[in-house]
Amino acid sequence: MDVEEVLEFADHLVFAMTGKHLDSLQKAILRGAWDNQKYREIAERHHRSEKYVKEVGFKLWRLLSNILGEELSKANFRAALERRWRFSFVLPFGKAFVRTAKVTPNTCNSPEITNIQQLDEDISVGYEGKNSLFSSHQDLSDAPDVFSFWGRSEELNKLEKWIVEERCRLVVLFGMSGIGKTALAVKLVEKIQDNFEFVIWRSLCYKPTLAEMQANSIQFLSDREEKEVDGNADFRLSQFMEYLRKYRCLVILDDVHLLFSTGELAGCYQSGYEDYSLLFKQLGELTHDSCFLLTSWEKPREIVTLEGDNKPVRSLELAGLDIPSSGELLREKGLGEEKWEYLINHYAGNPLWLQIVSTIIADLFEGSVSEFLKYDTLLLSEELKDILSKQIYRLSPLEKDVLSRLANEDEPVAISKLLGNIQFSNSDLLNAIQSLRRRSLIQKQDGNGMIFTVKPVLKQYLKTEYFRVLNTAIKLNIN
Ligand SMILES: Nc1ncnc2c1ncn2[C@@H]1O[C@H](COP(=O)(O)OP(=O)(O)OP(=O)(O)O)[C@@H](O)[C@H]1O
Ligand SMILES: [Mg+2]
Repeated sequence: MDVEEVLEFADHLVFAMTGKHLDSLQKAILRGAWDNQKYREIAERHHRSEKYVKEVGFKLWRLLSNILGEELSKANFRAALERRWRFSFVLPFGKAFVRTAKVTPNTCNSPEITNIQQLDEDISVGYEGKNSLFSSHQDLSDAPDVFSFWGRSEELNKLEKWIVEERCRLVVLFGMSGIGKTALAVKLVEKIQDNFEFVIWRSLCYKPTLAEMQANSIQFLSDREEKEVDGNADFRLSQFMEYLRKYRCLVILDDVHLLFSTGELAGCYQSGYEDYSLLFKQLGELTHDSCFLLTSWEKPREIVTLEGDNKPVRSLELAGLDIPSSGELLREKGLGEEKWEYLINHYAGNPLWLQIVSTIIADLFEGSVSEFLKYDTLLLSEELKDILSKQIYRLSPLEKDVLSRLANEDEPVAISKLLGNIQFSNSDLLNAIQSLRRRSLIQKQDGNGMIFTVKPVLKQYLKTEYFRVLNTAIKLNIN
């Protein structure tokens, strides 16, 4: 397929849809896109302003996207058309194309056209489904490899539905450390990446400012266009949003909790990172075709007001792996098949916790779970203590207080028992309980949303380690 055939092909499609042929500037834009020229070069050659050429280009991509049922842009135009052309020999699209050439504007709604559109739909069925034909550009260098992965089909299907079918623009995956947020996000990307023109994975472990994250992403998105990324914060954000409108992008921000403060309620931005809040709001509120997937220990505050079943913003609290999937993990670790269910429930199906304890069982108890349980039903290895301490360290003083009360109770605790404390106002207490929920540190009891529980491992940690350290600190202060 050469560029002249492309122009003829596109002209026929546009004529069949609108009754008008492509004008010279539209042809120049298609020719330029084919040859990977910048808008500036096309504009200079045709003695037009770059802005005007971009506007014409934008409308043209919209029109072609509507005709072909697939999001087209200057960046993916050549790949998409070449692919269509290849398909036209496999499917009867070639014939449709010839027939399209014969139609006049007046016959646009004739059965022939319907037929052509049907054939076209057959080809582009994947645009919103599994077989999508986008040729996506990916920057996944920050994404970790996931070697073994069990279960999670329900979560994967739900996230795919939200993002691909329902076109959500902002999705938050939150839950405790080690619960499998990053692994799930990696698997999701593998599953849905073809629906996006660009896929970008950014780990926030080096805590990039919004300006750095945007500049870095824009550089990748504008590889072919050399866009400027200077200007004030508002301008940069609007420029970033422009890219997210122009291309269908999937951006994963991993470890978003690193943007939040310690010692305060969940989701409170550290100084210097508050402008991420504006980004998340704009992603939810402004129209665009891209999607941001965030993983976090804490649910960002903005999400609470933006999310909803009929809104393009959703959040998913990730629970532990179910028994069969956790069992696969234990089998892989070489554990003998007894008392698995007990072990899995105690470690709440958290894959990282299960990995840690099963390594110890394999090493010291020859893989026998029953032997291990004779000595210690809830072993807190140093590694596990370290993981938990990082999460507890982030809490506000009142959250620590509420959590320790819950941990000291043998039974689940009713909200009424927590309120009415003379030391704190009910509104402060409710905010602390809400914040602990947003950190996945307390759960509602099944069937009764007003009763809260703490996971056994966390309870054990708080009762043994945390209070011991706290008491020592208090004693030292007194002395
Ligand atoms: N479904 C799964 N099957 C098997 N292993 C899993 C699964 N999910 C996660 N894991 C493993 O559990 C460990 C923790 O997972 P992951 O890093 O995704 O957790 P996380 O929730 O992102 O933790 P953090 O919040 O600390 O980043 C990893 O070694 C990962 O490979
Ligand atoms: Mg992670």
